[in-house]
Amino acid sequence: MKKMIAPSILSADFARLGEEIQMVTMAGADWIHVDVMDGHFVPNLTIGMGVVKSIKPASKIPLDVHLMIEKPEKYIREFISAGSDYLTLHVESTQNMTENLKLIRELGCKAGITLRPKTSIEDIQPYLNLVDLVLVMTVEPGFGGQSFMHDQVDKIRQLNTFRKQGLGNFLIEVDGGVDSKTATICWESGADVLVAGSAVFKGEKSIENYKINIEVLKS
Ligand code: DX5
Ligand code: ZN
Repeated sequence: MKKMIAPSILSADFARLGEEIQMVTMAGADWIHVDVMDGHFVPNLTIGMGVVKSIKPASKIPLDVHLMIEKPEKYIREFISAGSDYLTLHVESTQNMTENLKLIRELGCKAGITLRPKTSIEDIQPYLNLVDLVLVMTVEPGFGGQSFMHDQVDKIRQLNTFRKQGLGNFLIEVDGGVDSKTATICWESGADVLVAGSAVFKGEKSIENYKINIEVLKS
């Protein structure tokens, strides 16, 4: 399976967001990961659908939008019309997961599900046949630059086993604390897509540097 990297723009320079997205795209990024936080579901505020709409023309690669918000159903339509290609919801954030995932797909978007580190894999199991993507959080959601939680790796392995057993047809994505060392663990456990904020955007703001950062994570 192809190894894919989704740089999280949370670690980019927000004053030069379009340019940063163009640079990581030219440097070999596969998706652009967008962290949406509402100050309620997580203790941080980031960006909304207006920014998603503005950055959409900056790159042709898929926009992978990770919603860390309460009542995500209120905004599904708007995030999709703003240009999301993947829309991922936290299982803890809504009472209507089945309806929401179906709606995302009906609107022509890929549906993703994710869970906090303390949430058990059994909580997302009923939805595995309704999603195109399962995101495993390897940090407590809210901030970039945290340390990778090794005790979450079992979830990656378990999901890989589930899909081998025919329980759904989804990509496995890992988010939080991904660097050159932890990336290897994730690939070996069955991950297809790794989100990386600090590990991609560290150092000089240039295509050459971002290319090195991305290649290190893929190798
Ligand atoms: C955390 C976000 C992550 C974050 C990853 O809540 O979901 O996407 O930006 O950042 P790093 O790669 O720095 O851990
Ligand atoms: Zn994220």
